Amino acid sequence: MPEFTLKIRRYDPESGRPAYWQQFTTDLAPERSVLDAILKVRDEEDGSLAIRCSCRAAICGSCGVRVNGRSALACNTKLSTASERARAGGLNTDATPDGTIVVEPMGNMPVLKDLVVDMDAVHWKKVQRVVPWLLPEGDPPEREYVVDPDTMMDVTQSMACIHCGVCVSACLSMEVDPEFIGPAALAKAYRFVGDPRDAFHEDRLRDLAEDPHGLYDCTHCFACVEVCPKGVAPMNQIMRLRRRATQDYEVKDANNGYGHEKAFTGLIEKYGTLFEAQLLPRSFGEGSLVKGQTKPAAVKQLVDSLPTAFRGLARGKVTPRKALTHPKLPDQDQVRRIFREIEDQDERVELNMYIVGESDEAGAADREPAMGDSGAER
Ligand code: FES
Repeated sequence: MPEFTLKIRRYDPESGRPAYWQQFTTDLAPERSVLDAILKVRDEEDGSLAIRCSCRAAICGSCGVRVNGRSALACNTKLSTASERARAGGLNTDATPDGTIVVEPMGNMPVLKDLVVDMDAVHWKKVQRVVPWLLPEGDPPEREYVVDPDTMMDVTQSMACIHCGVCVSACLSMEVDPEFIGPAALAKAYRFVGDPRDAFHEDRLRDLAEDPHGLYDCTHCFACVEVCPKGVAPMNQIMRLRRRATQDYEVKDANNGYGHEKAFTGLIEKYGTLFEAQLLPRSFGEGSLVKGQTKPAAVKQLVDSLPTAFRGLARGKVTPRKALTHPKLPDQDQVRRIFREIEDQDERVELNMYIVGESDEAGAADREPAMGDSGAER
């Protein structure tokens, strides 16, 4: 039986001792999970080792940890995979050349003991923030609400969430802003914003868009998409919330999320690549350069951001030439053609993990769902 070395982060608040590392060696078949190894260590070597778990089958969502820096479910991570990844290192995975499997509690949440974190203090508090239940209007029907199955397809991906908190642990925005509502709670919010039975889509979207720690606090880093064990792709749900807010309800939020989206897409349509010097004034001006330089609120925001611009100039990140001119792509017409094709469509198409492939592929929508596909959108 091969041997695996586990280096586990230990912490017991009652001991008064700071957190420390402890190493164990255990023999288990390589296809067994990191959770199996931790439980074996607990059974045979140290009964005080704390870890939360129940189903051991990636269903209950209770065994989230970080394995070599990468957030994951311990029961869903094979020892062989963890050890190989540790040897290779790379993006999101800390290297240990000898294959030592380093196990730590999840990030962005306070540690209660060893590998157990306080989910109530962060994850569940944020889920409560988004009103995680249906808000229908009027008298309830005599029997059940009847919903066209097609209208529910859009929310199936967010409904697959098991609330393990792995995405919260990996969220880089939350590291910078602990108040960020976060990927799991916002994916939950989309579950109701996309549900035709809910009568408060606009109110929910306005609330989340206006919150300085809400919709527009996500920085598109993809960390939550990479680690989610159920293919929920929380960041995609956040982008869907944004599209609904800006395109369906024209929510012009105080965080300039609406303006930033308009500025971004407008500049790409015009130049093919991002004219960064215009991005800021256009974002403050709801996508318009004129408004960005004449609207009193926009002018004030521009003035406030001048120190950042000067720092960019001083460090050579921005040059006066780059700030004033920006070349168009040689085949810019092709970019405009893509914009036209999308805008000419009668309705927006949202694809999730149950619908894969190109929209114009014959029978694409009839394909069997592929569980675990991370999802595609257009
Ligand atoms: Fe249930 Fe890992 S023990 S998800």
